[in-house]
Amino acid sequence: MTGCEEEPKPTPEPVTKALVVGHRGASALRPEHTLEAYRKAVQDGADIIEPDLVSTKDGVLVARHENEISGTTNVEQVAKFADRKKTKMIDGQPLTGWFTEDFTLAELKELRARERIPASRPGNTQYDGQFEVPTLAEVIALAKELSAQTGRTIHLYPETKHPTYFQSIGLALEDRLITELKKDEFTASKATVYIQSFEVANLKEIREKIGNSQPNWKLVQLMEEETRKPYDFVKSGDSRTYADLMTEAGMKEIATYANGVGPYKLSIINVDSSGAFQQPTALVRNAHAAGLVVFPYTFRPENAFLPTPLKVEGPASTHHAAGSIKEIQAYLDAGIDGFFTDDPAVGRQAVDTYKR
Ligand code: G3P
Ligand code: CA
Repeated sequence: MTGCEEEPKPTPEPVTKALVVGHRGASALRPEHTLEAYRKAVQDGADIIEPDLVSTKDGVLVARHENEISGTTNVEQVAKFADRKKTKMIDGQPLTGWFTEDFTLAELKELRARERIPASRPGNTQYDGQFEVPTLAEVIALAKELSAQTGRTIHLYPETKHPTYFQSIGLALEDRLITELKKDEFTASKATVYIQSFEVANLKEIREKIGNSQPNWKLVQLMEEETRKPYDFVKSGDSRTYADLMTEAGMKEIATYANGVGPYKLSIINVDSSGAFQQPTALVRNAHAAGLVVFPYTFRPENAFLPTPLKVEGPASTHHAAGSIKEIQAYLDAGIDGFFTDDPAVGRQAVDTYKR
């Protein structure tokens, strides 16, 4: 080696940090599924924001966790909408309330969001009555704006809610979602868009429609607890449960149409009767062997939601960041690729302070 030659530098280790998904925005700190909740999520370090999607009467996709909106808006207090109260069968269960599919977007925009769980999140009630129900288009525009502001691409994780039901009433979500995502170059080709569903058939349908034409769109099979079934399986008489989807063979089949799975966190690390963590299950291993990424849900920082050994003294609403960080890091140990958290600042800290 001559004097002017530099010592070759070691190749840096690839940086593979788990991704932080702002679950319904920063829903521990703002009423869920509002532009303000998503904005807070990004300010607090989320890599990705998650809008759950349902349809209005005029076929516009809006961000709500369910189509029945009395738990997250002031609809019950709006006299002119009193006669919209109905009882319907949603995914095989009777449900009474007010439903997005009975409101035009203009009508829905007259409503205001409110906190779903005020006992656990009393701080959020100060925002009750202030924020609108956003459309998917508005969420995309916000992600684009925040990407420009922060200099990092803010990715999206939309979920189709009650897809079989919306198909049955002529308001299918799938084509509307594809169309909306293709409208803007940001979601058409720049940001990563994870499209998730608890049902199977509609994810397969989306894959059939897009093929491999959208490399930045990743499909994610959500999974409820092991004993439950995707609602489209219930309707079609398919006897398989989510437990069947979690097996090695199940994961291989998912990999034929999807890129990842979104299991309930206890399917990865269960807890015993005292709340202590058990050994991780084979779920992450089976998923990774099939080439699927794993994003469990949902990490919440309040006492009410923490595993018993991580709770602190105080009411259910007590915010315990250190407990939530410990919980998340146990899952990072188990090899997850990302996770849903209601408090992205806590999730960010968990990832950034994690040492394997
Ligand atoms: O989509 C992941 C997680 O959000 C699933 O649970 O009920 O909060 O939509 P949910
Ligand atoms: Ca969701």
